[in-house]
Amino acid sequence: MATLKLTGVAKSFGPTRVLERVDLDVSDGEFVVLVGPSGCGKSTLLRCIAGLEIPTEGTVLIGDRDVTNAHPRDRDVAMVFQSYALYPHMSVRRNMGFALEIAKKPKSFIDDAVDEAARMLELTPLLDRKPSQLSGGQRQRVAIGRAIVRKPKVFLFDEPLSNLDASLRLTMRVELKRLHKRMGTTMVYVTHDQIEAMTLADRLVVLDGGVAQQIGSPMEVHDTPANRFVAGFIGSPAMTFLEKFDDSAVVGVRPQHVILGEGPHTARVDVIEPLGTESLVHMDLNGEHLVGRTEKPPLPGDIKIGFSRIYRFDRSSGEAL
Ligand SMILES: Nc1ncnc2c1ncn2[C@@H]1O[C@H](COP(=O)(O)OP(=O)(O)O)[C@@H](O)[C@H]1O
Ligand SMILES: [Mg+2]
Repeated sequence: MATLKLTGVAKSFGPTRVLERVDLDVSDGEFVVLVGPSGCGKSTLLRCIAGLEIPTEGTVLIGDRDVTNAHPRDRDVAMVFQSYALYPHMSVRRNMGFALEIAKKPKSFIDDAVDEAARMLELTPLLDRKPSQLSGGQRQRVAIGRAIVRKPKVFLFDEPLSNLDASLRLTMRVELKRLHKRMGTTMVYVTHDQIEAMTLADRLVVLDGGVAQQIGSPMEVHDTPANRFVAGFIGSPAMTFLEKFDDSAVVGVRPQHVILGEGPHTARVDVIEPLGTESLVHMDLNGEHLVGRTEKPPLPGDIKIGFSRIYRFDRSSGEAL
């Protein structure tokens, strides 16, 4: 296990800057999630940690060792990709042990490591199969197992669940969380899915346009977003923004903070979306779209509303006020 420290890590590809100086201190055993929309630089940052890219500026420390320019194999990290990248002609057992084979570990050592990882991931009955004889979820578990057997100091995950269907993604999410609890290894996990990020992370790094917009615990980032981007990206259902409500700022409202049925404002109910226990209420407030959430959906027509909490953002910079 180890700490990870990024100092001013930036990356350009030719003239194109894709990552602006990122500072991040990951403590031993912490689960950090890099989250943001497609193309924001998540994989690039993770690849700089893995050694698959060398940063244009800044340093990467694992433990107290500077690995900024070290070869990937020389960093004691293991990476799990979205594409499982298993060897199709090898059994599950051999796929999982292959890195140790390359490292010339004795057979009994490899067998023990594979058996232990297989038990943890419930892969024991599948060890003699080929990847083609496995489901998508099983293949992804083998890819994770292959990382586990190396006992790395840091696990790196790049959207490992994105190829799985929705229900399997939920199951695997819980399994990953359990695995982390059990192993206590430092993890850096990339996803574009803010719900996955919120549920897995001890700490989030919200990236947009190559810039770390905010770093904090899921609740901190959700409750006190640093700017309009973070406020709109984190939280489900999403915050709605009112441009005309306030002269001096853009106002953001989370659906759970809309009080329906009483308050100083009048909105017109537009569409109601039942979600089971609760419903989302889409409204028109003076020509602007607003979403509320309630257990008692209102009748169509005009309705009194109020807000239990609002957020305000600078009109030009988007910074939280
Ligand atoms: N090898 C490369 N050469 C040029 N541009 C790249 C390269 N790798 C990534 N990029 C660009 O860097 C930006 C960030 O990419 P990436 O880190 O893969 O984003 P994400 O993982 O968040 O979707 C994108 O605009 C992408 O096109
Ligand atoms: Mg990516």
